[in-house]
Amino acid sequence: MLSYRHSYHAGNFADVLKHLVQVAVLDHLRLKDKPFLVHDTHGGAGLFAVDDAHMQKTGEYRDGIGRLWERRFEAPLINRYLNVVAGFSRPGALSHYPGSPAISAALLRDQDRLQITELHSTDFELLEARFGGDRRIRLARQDALAGIKALLPPVHKRGLVLIDPSYELGGDEAATLEAVEEGLRRFNTGCFAIWYPVLERRRADRFAQRLMALAPKHLRAELCVLRDGGARGMTGSGMVVLNPPWTLGEQLQTALPILHRTLDQGGGTQRLVLSS
Ligand SMILES: C[S@@+](CC[C@H](N)C(=O)[O-])C[C@H]1O[C@@H](n2cnc3c(N)ncnc32)[C@H](O)[C@@H]1O
Repeated sequence: MLSYRHSYHAGNFADVLKHLVQVAVLDHLRLKDKPFLVHDTHGGAGLFAVDDAHMQKTGEYRDGIGRLWERRFEAPLINRYLNVVAGFSRPGALSHYPGSPAISAALLRDQDRLQITELHSTDFELLEARFGGDRRIRLARQDALAGIKALLPPVHKRGLVLIDPSYELGGDEAATLEAVEEGLRRFNTGCFAIWYPVLERRRADRFAQRLMALAPKHLRAELCVLRDGGARGMTGSGMVVLNPPWTLGEQLQTALPILHRTLDQGGGTQRLVLSS
């Protein structure tokens, strides 16, 4: 049974890095008129009200989007991400934080498509209520791997596959590797962006390396807000991007040190690994 609800964690430091990368990839795809597809394997609920009991209970967003909100930085990508997030709130107050489906929907053009798979019944109903009427968006209450098999490849061979598991089950890393391999077999021109948590250093490194080994062109961006082993739970998180836009490495080179300075909670690190 799935118990993870992203509503407790929306807007935290991990979401900031994840959604910053998502915005960068989508903006790159939008540079050409040709249609693209976003395939979001773990949709979550789509959009989160900041005054909701779940977000308020953990307050994690305060050390994520809360530290960036209404500020401007010497990194165009951070400012662009903040503008996208601000599009969901009234001026002045952070009222809503967008999940990956809402970010994609906001950046989709008429000719583009979004496919979302999500297993949790409550979150799936929220997705249906929010996006059910949008003809550009297809929702499936389906397992991530089954969705990749059923819904890829896209007609036009451009797009982003966003893979954001909750890693709540022991086999989630293996399942993610299998899903990425299957996705690449079907859609090897696609950009694949995979989120991973840093709970234990060696395990995170091993997993990220195995993901990067799946495609010759890749990057790994990691932001830790606490020193390794400095907390019981997650001390950081990262994104492995396979077939990244050629501009992403440079954008992150500027953005990551600023995110680190702004979001650090004590002894954290940032790193960017680029394939040659
Ligand atoms: C980290 S959350 C996704 C957050 C979302 N991508 C965002 O950025 O707003 C992970 C989601 O995956 C869902 N999930 C867990 N296992 C799944 C599976 N095997 N297939 C599809 N969805 C799954 C969970 O119910 C949860 O909503």
